[in-house]
Amino acid sequence: MNALTRRLLPLLLAIAPLPALAQQPPGPPALAWKTGAEARAIERRIDALLARMTTAEKIGQLNLRGRGDEFRPEWVAQGRTGAVMNFTSPAEIAAVRAQVAQSRLKIPLILGLDAINGFATYFPQPIGQAATFNPRLVELASYWSAREARATGINWTFAPMIDMTRDARWGRNMEGAGEDVHLASVIAAARVVGYHRGGLATSAKHFVGYGAAEGGRDYNSVWIPVSQLWDYQIPPFRAAISAGAFTVMTSLSAMNGIAATGDRSLVTDVLKGRLGFRGFVVSDFDSVRELINHGMASDRAEAARKAFLAGVDMDMMSGAYDAHLADEIRAGRVPAAALDEAVRRVLRVKFHMGLFEEPPFDPTTAARDMATPAARADSLAVARESIVMLRNHEAALPLRSSVRSIAVVGGAATHQEDWQYSDNAGLPRVRPPKLPDELTRLLGPDVAISFAPGLATHCNLAAGDTAGAVRTAEAADVVVVMLGEDCEQIGEGTSRAHLDLPPVQQALLDALIATGKPVVVILHTTRPFVLTRFEGRVAAILQAFHLGTEGRTALAEVITGHVNPSGKLPMTFPRATGQVPIYYDSLPTGRPRLTNARYETGYTDEKLEPLYPFGFGLSFSRFTFEALTLDAPRVARDGTVAGSVRVSNIAGPAGREVVQVYVRQKVASRSRPVRQLRFFEKVEVAAGGQATVRFAIPVRSLGFHDDQARYRVEPGEYEIYVGNDSNATLSATVTVR
Ligand code: BGC
Repeated sequence: MNALTRRLLPLLLAIAPLPALAQQPPGPPALAWKTGAEARAIERRIDALLARMTTAEKIGQLNLRGRGDEFRPEWVAQGRTGAVMNFTSPAEIAAVRAQVAQSRLKIPLILGLDAINGFATYFPQPIGQAATFNPRLVELASYWSAREARATGINWTFAPMIDMTRDARWGRNMEGAGEDVHLASVIAAARVVGYHRGGLATSAKHFVGYGAAEGGRDYNSVWIPVSQLWDYQIPPFRAAISAGAFTVMTSLSAMNGIAATGDRSLVTDVLKGRLGFRGFVVSDFDSVRELINHGMASDRAEAARKAFLAGVDMDMMSGAYDAHLADEIRAGRVPAAALDEAVRRVLRVKFHMGLFEEPPFDPTTAARDMATPAARADSLAVARESIVMLRNHEAALPLRSSVRSIAVVGGAATHQEDWQYSDNAGLPRVRPPKLPDELTRLLGPDVAISFAPGLATHCNLAAGDTAGAVRTAEAADVVVVMLGEDCEQIGEGTSRAHLDLPPVQQALLDALIATGKPVVVILHTTRPFVLTRFEGRVAAILQAFHLGTEGRTALAEVITGHVNPSGKLPMTFPRATGQVPIYYDSLPTGRPRLTNARYETGYTDEKLEPLYPFGFGLSFSRFTFEALTLDAPRVARDGTVAGSVRVSNIAGPAGREVVQVYVRQKVASRSRPVRQLRFFEKVEVAAGGQATVRFAIPVRSLGFHDDQARYRVEPGEYEIYVGNDSNATLSATVTVR
């Protein structure tokens, strides 16, 4: 066996099989909106229930309170709160649920939690799920997150977050699907379906525009023109609603000068009206009271009135509805009919979820459903496809069989509890495998693996024993260093002004590079970083958007060649922070960069192009795209742009490639993006093999909104580009009649 075959053998033998949904153990019944006679019967039951409710009991249904010092379980028995959040212990949840039986009307509770990327078994952060470009895996991640949380007695999640963003500085990139509206819409639907299949009702959030915070600074105001609101921000919400999302959460921020939680035209006219949303709208945490901070209300009573009249049905945690709605109704400032309408929406969700028919909750079985082998296997499957290989200089990866020793550097490589949104208090949890252990397991005793943290902690912000790390590196054939962000640097409220590696990490990396050993960098980040300072000097770069419980196993599998990477970037990676916002589907300018002359768009001190484009990701295989053919060169406005392309795997092992189809309308009544992703599909192609991928894009999806929010599809020529990133060059033209 020659060295190359030996190196690629694991890949030839073991391309990870797609997980089989059919093998999952039975779980709770999937949630779905009832239709027809069943839905009509529910409305009649709501009428009957409303007729029996006092005003106080009605307001109670709109009051969402959370675990904490102030919470009193008897509020449930008193009918003063119909929804609770942030409970995670099955025993506590059982106790709160038991209060329902003490209440006069016994209306079941809805219990919410941010079960974002798992509960006992963690999956990649949502942005990492998006990087799989595999909606089936994304659905699985949501399914398990729901199943595990559901087993503890939770029945509602504050997910999926489907805010669009083009700004890597914004810390909540991690919770979304990146910059592309088509990808984000497909993923929004997949996540809703997955959560519902696992037994949690969803809350699509944050309506709307939260991800467009100016300067990437969380909670900052957003300015979104009408056409962009409808073309770019709203489509994922439309997709989530079509997929059956039960609730929608408002944004904490103000759009175009009006805080979303107090914006009637957004919440009532757009969401409940034009988008036809039938479920209930919940505020974000305290965002009703925050109308005071926004300067839109002088006190909590006014805040309650404004949010309620805007169409926000449920008040999360501010207590303003609880304290003031009754007075507002008595004083005639809030119509009683509006109260009935809001309560109807909450009850509708509870009825459609089947909560009134649910058997009593048994807290003793929760532990059984945590971190099952099936959940862990699926978590590994998602992590494998989530890894994006950004650089592989001279085929540094998979590691050659001549490698006899590896120095693993960085506390993140051995850390076993990455930052998570919510913690499954007290329930069984997995200690995620460590990277050095996984390398040892896969490479066997003949390859020596050493470890040095290099930095003070896994949080990666304070300098540690650099000299020790350098000594470890010098003694090894290859260095694998895991850097990035964790702890209090990721998630909500963690905007960055600098997207380079923090100085201590860059210094450590420079010292490792200076040893002359090939360095493989694993970026354990949750947003695009600026890699310009080192990317040309390292052997390989693997982007890992916090991969979850099985992440370090998946990384070891890629490094050793047991898995062929297939992740793609869901966001553009800039060359410099100053390029942000940078995204592939921008409009053309009147002065494109053609000759690098002064009066062409660009920067005097940086290139115009990003470091890595949207959709980019390398494989151990080499794929080529040929034979792009369209079924017809002319299509009608109600027709479909259909065609096919051949993908060949011309070098390397079997692998998966993402076929990406972009469309550009050449001339229109307004300037149109230089290209937009309209179709993608991940295909598996055997070594030396080929696959023909068919695509079909409805012409009605190729239009845009004008400044009056009217949608139109204009006739004319549309260019089609096909390839494996947003720079795809294989092209054809179709005419829409
Ligand atoms: C976040 C929401 C989250 C809520 C409850 C807020 O601060 O913006 O997305 O669901 O807290 O945890």
